[in-house]
This record gives sequence, C-alpha cells and structure tokens, in this order.
Amino acid sequence: MIAPEIKIPNKPTYLMPFLPLDITPIYLAWLNDKEITQFTEIAKTKQSAEDCRDYVTKSNSSSDEFLWRIVTETHGHVGNIRLSGLSSPHQRGELALIIGNTNLHGKGIGTQAIKLATMYAFNELKLHKITAGMYMPNEGSYKAFLNAGYHLEATLKDHVLFNGHFTDVYKVACFNQYEQNL
Ligand SMILES: CC(C)(COP(=O)(O)OP(=O)(O)OC[C@H]1O[C@@H](n2cnc3c(N)ncnc32)[C@H](O)[C@@H]1OP(=O)(O)O)[C@@H](O)C(=O)NCCC(=O)NCCS
Repeated sequence: MIAPEIKIPNKPTYLMPFLPLDITPIYLAWLNDKEITQFTEIAKTKQSAEDCRDYVTKSNSSSDEFLWRIVTETHGHVGNIRLSGLSSPHQRGELALIIGNTNLHGKGIGTQAIKLATMYAFNELKLHKITAGMYMPNEGSYKAFLNAGYHLEATLKDHVLFNGHFTDVYKVACFNQYEQNL
C-alpha cells in the first residue's frame, strides 16, 4: 500500500510516501555506504537503481507494509522508515529505519520518525504491538527506539554474524496503550 503522509503541525520531521521517482543518486549512495548500513541486512549487498525501483514498487503494491520517506524541513529526504508484517493476523507490525546522512545522526530525527510511524500504526491501523530489532552494538538505533517509548523485550543470543563474530540482537517492543481491551 502507498504510505500516507504523516505530519504534525510545527514539527520539522515528517513522513511522506516513497515513490520510485524518489530514488536519486544520493539515495543510492546511502544504501551503498558501508558505514551507514553496517548494522543492517543490506550491508553485504550492492544496491542498483533497478533493485531499489523493484523494492519500492513491490512495497507500495503489498498489503503487508508501508514504506515512508523521512523528510525534514531543512534537509528534505533524509531516510526511510518501513512498517511491515501487517498481513499477520496478530495485529503486530515491525519497524525498521535508516537515516542516510551520518551528519544528521543524533539530532532526534530517528526518534521522531519512529514516533510518527508508531502513532499511525496504533491510531489508524489499530495495531496492538510494534516490534523492532537491532544488532547489539547499534547504540543509536537502540536509544532511538527507547526514546520513542519502546522497551527491551528480548535478547537473541549470537543471532547474527557481524564483523566475523556472532553477535546478539535486541528485540524492542511497544504496545498500544489506547486500544480497548478485547
Ligand atoms: C539508527 C538511526 C536510525 C538513529 O537515528 P538518529 O536520528 O541518529 O536517532 P536520534 O537522533 O533520535 O538518536 C537516538 C540516540 O542515539 C544516539 N546516537 C545516534 N547515533 C549514534 C551512534 N552512532 N552511536 C551512539 N549513539 C548514537 C543519539 O545521540 C541519541 O542519544 P540520546 O538519547 O542520548 O539523545 C540512525 O543512526 C541510522 O540511520 N543509522 C544507520 C542505519 C541503521 O543502523 N538503522 C537501524 C537498523 S535497526
């Protein structure tokens, strides 16, 4: 499904649908920058414009997920956030995100993007629970999710091979506080 625009008045970070025309050389450079992707599953791949077009087109036509661009008033398109797993019968979703410009890390953009997507998942999609996972050394991701109201739910031991070492993965979660009890 094509993701809806999510904007809160006076907030400089917002979410916009991701369309194939949003795939720019700068965007491709982020996906192929090993410093940015080191903690993600695309780290060992090389992404072409065609791979990205396929990914975006598939995502926008799937009933399982929403893919947004993360946009700021001052820098435009700075990253992506994806909410997936929506076709599960368990009213759950899984979030993953990337901010492409490392100079913009640590400025609260990731936290705000997670808050916006979580708000949409709970208020509009009426999901019960959102989860996310990150390699244990990915401090920025872990902190951004905690800042956005998530808690540590599990540690998956030796779950990924990272830089030649088996490494733990943290699973974080957030529950919908506002839904009526079933
Ligand atoms: C993970 C990521 C999305 C976080 O976004 P962000 O905009 O930097 O997050 P925030 O600014 O909201 O930062 C959250 C906290 O982590 C800290 N932080 C950010 N990057 C960090 C890093 N590389 N190392 C240590 N701490 C970091 C911030 O200073 C902030 O700390 P605070 O809570 O004390 O203020 C971003 O760093 C990123 O895109 N990384 C590369 C891709 C990636 O790893 N994605 C996640 C896969 S699970």
